[in-house]
Amino acid sequence: MALDELQGEVDKVRLEWEEALASAGDPESLENLRVRFLGRKGKVSALMNRMKELEPHQRAEAGKLLNSLKQQVTDDLQKLQQALEREAAEQRFAQESYDLSLPGVWRPVGHVHPLTQVRLELEEIFLRLGFDVAAGPEVETEYYNFDALNIPAEHPARDEWDSFYVEGDLLLRTHTSPVQIREMRKRRPPVRIVCPGRCYRRENPDATHAQVFHQLELLWVEEGLTMAHLKWIIDEFVTAFFGADYEMRFAADYFPFTEPSAQVHIRPRSGGATGRHHAGWLEIGGAGMVDPKVLEEVEYNPEQYTGFAFGLGLERMAMLRWGIEDIRLFLQNDPRFLRQF
Ligand code: DAH
Repeated sequence: MALDELQGEVDKVRLEWEEALASAGDPESLENLRVRFLGRKGKVSALMNRMKELEPHQRAEAGKLLNSLKQQVTDDLQKLQQALEREAAEQRFAQESYDLSLPGVWRPVGHVHPLTQVRLELEEIFLRLGFDVAAGPEVETEYYNFDALNIPAEHPARDEWDSFYVEGDLLLRTHTSPVQIREMRKRRPPVRIVCPGRCYRRENPDATHAQVFHQLELLWVEEGLTMAHLKWIIDEFVTAFFGADYEMRFAADYFPFTEPSAQVHIRPRSGGATGRHHAGWLEIGGAGMVDPKVLEEVEYNPEQYTGFAFGLGLERMAMLRWGIEDIRLFLQNDPRFLRQF
């Protein structure tokens, strides 16, 4: 074979290549082309094999010809492959593109439980009045839950029917009052604290009784405090929480840890029903002057210091605020209930 013959063959294959290339539009046909031209039995390889038919002095020239053909085919393949990939990506992007004017997908998020809302609001009110927020353990000893609060062993509140005992003299606290004792032990007067927390009682659950419920305890001990200060604080709280159109009163009551003791009542000033709240006096908690025996128990001198305490149920506050009629709803975590607050 002569060199110009090879030249003719190379030109022919180049033309075939260019035509074939023009019709290849997808990765698969591209791969077929590669095999047809560059594969072991492909057209370019076939020409390469024919080099040996040439005179040795012509081979260098022939090598150049063939290499430039091979190079062109290789380059073209690569370019086309890149172009196809870019096109595929652009198509994908076009399908994936975002319409920023579409409204977003609404995902439900949780919110603060109504009891927590009430607790936070009460803390806020009392912080503003100069109280600290304190906490105590839910598993208590009989000493803190009862004895130190002047509730002796034979007192009806000690009846095992009222308390969940853990073991020995450990029980789930039946009220937040034990935190009074713990905090007075830790501090010196003036003591001004509120203690919100979870309490437990062996109740038969019904619309107004739950075995697990929450209280907020208030305690202020200082020189010269009287029942008038207590009444003022509660009046401030009633106004802040229920509104200025509510009034409060004390009614006689008995608690072992206060003397005198009082029940706290509220009602709308108008005397009539407002919204969901009924017209008459409603009990919202217990209060009183800290019994001197309790002060002695924590080694405060009752001749020097007086104090008062106040306890209220958080569920009761939430039920009044929102007109909720069953205390058991608070712990059921039914989203249909919780969503409303
Ligand atoms: N600890 C009482 C209870 O659980 C409530 C109470 C009454 C708390 C009078 C007080 C108080 O601080 O002074 O029923």
